[in-house]
Amino acid sequence: MGRVEGKVAFITGAARGQGRSHAVRLAREGADIIAVDLCQQVESVPYPLATPEDLAQTVKEVEALGRRIFATQADVRDYGALKAALDDGVAKLGRLDIVSANAGINSFSKLDVMPEQTWQDVIDVNLTGVWHTAKAAIPHLRAGGRGGSIILTSSAVGLKGVQNIGHYVAARHGVVGLMRTLALELAPEMIRVNSVHPSSVDTVMIQNDAMYALSAPDLPAAERIKETMAERRKVINALPIPYVEPVDVSNAVLWLASDEARYVTGVTLPVDPGMLVK
Ligand SMILES: NC(=O)c1ccc[n+]([C@@H]2O[C@H](COP(=O)([O-])OP(=O)(O)OC[C@H]3O[C@@H](n4cnc5c(N)ncnc54)[C@H](O)[C@@H]3O)[C@@H](O)[C@H]2O)c1
Repeated sequence: MGRVEGKVAFITGAARGQGRSHAVRLAREGADIIAVDLCQQVESVPYPLATPEDLAQTVKEVEALGRRIFATQADVRDYGALKAALDDGVAKLGRLDIVSANAGINSFSKLDVMPEQTWQDVIDVNLTGVWHTAKAAIPHLRAGGRGGSIILTSSAVGLKGVQNIGHYVAARHGVVGLMRTLALELAPEMIRVNSVHPSSVDTVMIQNDAMYALSAPDLPAAERIKETMAERRKVINALPIPYVEPVDVSNAVLWLASDEARYVTGVTLPVDPGMLVK
């Protein structure tokens, strides 16, 4: 028996990175998957977002594990589209037990000069999109009458400030407020709500030229390569490693999703190599 055998998980931002990893990890433990991703660019984001081919690859990897997956291109900013994708998925797969609100974007600017649209895009995707995900899912969890587990992806910087991504920091702190309120509102129905707080994760969100230029303005562009950046990134964490892998976050999501965490709600769970205690 898998640790989430027979359950159905709804995952946003599932085309690549952590979202794909969550889909595969949960599928390996017996869950079927309802996946959504934007699969388009957001103009203010200075690195490429996922493509339809990426989402197709997630489908392939979940199906290779013998699990079912229902995948749709949808934008977490568009509540109607997101709800329709989830409603269709639940109609196809029969139930909903687990929610991973994982979709997110980032961009870089000091707050005093941040363009309005750059601020708004991050708030819309990383905070409002998370609320939309929970809002669309709650009626299905409730209808199942079996409780459920909602896991909101925040960040280590949802629990502390850092420079140059103030909109992201604000949105991720906001997710903690959402999580705590939802945990209280849904507790009577045994629906648990927790947040995960990764520091750096080895995905395109940090492995891109815009992030490298921000982190190493002193280096010539040719020297801003993954290995050099990893050396610099190590100093952020207490453990001497530059970043965690997507599966490390997936393992935390899996635990929160599973019955092993059946009485865990309202928790902010770091997956941060000790960044927050440093
Ligand atoms: N990589 C890190 O260092 C790190 C650290 C802490 C938290 N996070 C958070 O983890 C989550 C996953 O990020 P990742 O590291 O896998 O990066 P990623 O860029 O690989 O994945 C994010 C996914 O979200 C999708 N997406 C973006 N906007 C969307 C929208 N409006 N609607 C639907 N899907 C959308 C993207 O297409 C992409 O597939 C994000 O919420 C991110 O903010 C990342």
